[in-house]
Amino acid sequence: MKLNIALLAGDGIGPEVINQAVKVCDALAEKYNHEINWKPALTGAAAIDAVGDPYPDETHAICANSDAVLFGAIGDPKYDNDPSAKVRPEQGLLRMRQKLGLFANVRPTFTFPSLIDKSPLKRERIEGTDLVFLRELTGGIYFGKRGREDDGDTAYDTCTYTRKEIQRLAKKGFEMAEKRSKRLCCVDKANVLESSRLWRETVQAMEKDYPEVKVSYEFVDAVAMRLVQWPSDYDVLITENLFGDILTDEASVISGSMGLMPSASIGEKIALYEPIHGSYPQAAGKDIANPLATVLSAAMLFDGFNLSEEADAIRKVVNKSLSEGIVTEDLSEGGRAYKTSEVGDWLASHI
Ligand code: IPM
Ligand code: MG
Repeated sequence: MKLNIALLAGDGIGPEVINQAVKVCDALAEKYNHEINWKPALTGAAAIDAVGDPYPDETHAICANSDAVLFGAIGDPKYDNDPSAKVRPEQGLLRMRQKLGLFANVRPTFTFPSLIDKSPLKRERIEGTDLVFLRELTGGIYFGKRGREDDGDTAYDTCTYTRKEIQRLAKKGFEMAEKRSKRLCCVDKANVLESSRLWRETVQAMEKDYPEVKVSYEFVDAVAMRLVQWPSDYDVLITENLFGDILTDEASVISGSMGLMPSASIGEKIALYEPIHGSYPQAAGKDIANPLATVLSAAMLFDGFNLSEEADAIRKVVNKSLSEGIVTEDLSEGGRAYKTSEVGDWLASHI
């Protein structure tokens, strides 16, 4: 297969982890006779520094004309500490999600047998966890009307959803649940929020089209608690943008490290693959960040083209690196801490 992949390294550790994913994909392409044409483009703080815009038109054109996007990380502390900054790296990510129509963010949470004791949660609680969040990504409070009242002392952000937006996300959730263990949880705050009541009403009306799927409706605060208490109770969870942002960080604790969790953001035409972690600026340039979340995001990319043998080859080599202790310092615990680039080289050579 011939693939044109836009390569958006972004900020902080983004370039380092992306480089490892590229090495692994190139090794895989050689082995399975694919041709990957990488198209690097600027985004985030790196793009602000270069051209004053975190998601330049040129980058958008490259993404829109590619078969998929592989993305590193975005964010720079020089903007976090300046509430008056007019342009922010994160705006680039949000604009990219919106302009590419990436409405469904797929964030799986699973455990790695060799890492189960790295999780702060008890083994018996998390063993066998295999759940997936479908987070709505282009609506809600992230994109609602926001501002300040004239007095400057009052600020507001609004959460708006249309039935259509809920339906297209829920459809993906139902379809995914059908292929998995047929359980779907709709996470909302319908006891308080009107937008959540529309979510519930919309999902309830869709139930009849998916008779095999058993749907539960739970409030987000209760899910936040039960998720770390009884993660195996869940299979597919659908939720709105902000709830999904918060719960997926929480869920990453189950796997033992945020440096392990991949994600896919899917639209009608194109999909983007990225680790769920941020730009980890303290580690930037030190060659110490864990590249596995990005490498596993690349596995999801191959899945996206129905190249499941290739995707499994990546997952297999990642599992091998974990069980053989070829890991970065976040997971090395007394053993040798490998450099980011060493882990990438090891993975590529074992493909
Ligand atoms: C994520 C991140 C982003 C989000 C930030 C960087 C804007 O936290 O992808 O989860 O809030 O969506
Ligand atoms: Mg987040």
